[in-house]
Amino acid sequence: MANFITRGATTAWDWVNARAPGMMPVYRKHMSEYYAPKNFNVWYYFGVLAMVVLVNQILTGIFLTMHYKPSAAEAFASVEYIMRDVEWGWLIRYMHSTGASLFFIVVYIHMFRGLMYGSYQKPRELVWIIGMLIYLVLMAEAFMGYVLPWGQMSFWGAKVIISLFGAIPVIGGGLTEWIMGDYLPSDATLGRFFALHVIALPLVLLLLVVLHIGALHEVGSNNPDGIDIKQGPKGNRWSPTAPADGIPFHPYYTVHDLVGIGFFLIIAAFIIFFAPAFGGWFLEHDNFTEANRLVTPEHIKPVWYYTPFYAMLRVVPDKLGGVLVMFGAIAILFLVPWLDRSKVRSHRYRGWITKLMLALLAISFIWLGKIGAGPGTDPVETIIGRILTAVYFLIFLTMPIWTKLDKTKPLPERVTTHE
Ligand code: HEM
Repeated sequence: MANFITRGATTAWDWVNARAPGMMPVYRKHMSEYYAPKNFNVWYYFGVLAMVVLVNQILTGIFLTMHYKPSAAEAFASVEYIMRDVEWGWLIRYMHSTGASLFFIVVYIHMFRGLMYGSYQKPRELVWIIGMLIYLVLMAEAFMGYVLPWGQMSFWGAKVIISLFGAIPVIGGGLTEWIMGDYLPSDATLGRFFALHVIALPLVLLLLVVLHIGALHEVGSNNPDGIDIKQGPKGNRWSPTAPADGIPFHPYYTVHDLVGIGFFLIIAAFIIFFAPAFGGWFLEHDNFTEANRLVTPEHIKPVWYYTPFYAMLRVVPDKLGGVLVMFGAIAILFLVPWLDRSKVRSHRYRGWITKLMLALLAISFIWLGKIGAGPGTDPVETIIGRILTAVYFLIFLTMPIWTKLDKTKPLPERVTTHE
């Protein structure tokens, strides 16, 4: 039987290969002859996990779209219908809503990994830039998705965020009206957000992910030691010309990644089955009430993955200033490959300053996230928020200085396999 299947598969493969000979080299380049450093650690699971979540979002999104009604009059009720009456509808919706938060957890860890190991440094600047574009599109995608259930927080969140464009001088008012298609979030807003959320932005995301991996595979993966395996000795058991410290992506890393995916899916299943709202962090309590333009919720706040930036917006007293600071906090990340002047990539071979800065960055980002999720009425918290915003910006603005000042350690000749 096994022999029969193998023969069948080989025949089918040969058949395709005879008709599309260009496909085999692509498979070789990206899978069986893509030599990835053999010292990847647990941080390197998060790229593939982001792909798994992306696929989950697309598949569950297709099924949600079959039952969802994109109109202000019917949207909320159609989501309730999915939850109560559609077979397995509750599971599909919770897989999608939990998936959104997991997407950001995974992507934030993935980005932090890049910062720790200097993966954005030459020659991987393009990989980083495309990654940042993915992050921007992901934020827009999640924002528009959040508006679709047409709950109180969908409506008021959309109102607050779209109104930010009103801070732009001269064109602000007109721009806000143009985006909403009305003076308040309405049927017109919902319709366009639906179209962008279910088709336009997912297409852009998919394209960007292909470019991201394509750009990475042109130059090869970095690794926790931050040294270039292509510069090291040549020859391994698969090829005399391949880097000695590289192993074929398939089957070694495909099988290795399955372990990480398995762990991840177990954690995801626990959240989906036992805590899908996650204490109001993944699905906010106010969004279980239908949108009402006459009743403003007590605290309007975005979902947790935006709250660090939302905190920055709120602690700046001036509206335009706040908007600039908020967008500046994201924009500055694009420049990291040029702000970092260190000769060494990985924090492993840098001094204490890099480690301190990485820790400060993580602390200020998480703390700001906590402040952004609160009511924003405590004046002490506002002061702390301002200090943390300054810390966040200073880390990046002074990066050219501290990356030069920080002492580096000698790099090993070959990759190391301990943490
Ligand atoms: C949908 C979102 C994303 C997906 C599916 C994705 C996918 C991947 C995959 C599969 C890899 C190779 C495996 C790995 O190194 O983990 C990778 C590498 C990388 N990604 Fe992403 N990525 C995403 C978002 C981002 C973002 C937002 C950034 C940063 C701005 C980023 C920056 C990088 C960098 C610098 C590498 C090279 C890492 C290295 O070689 O050390 N990615 N990505």
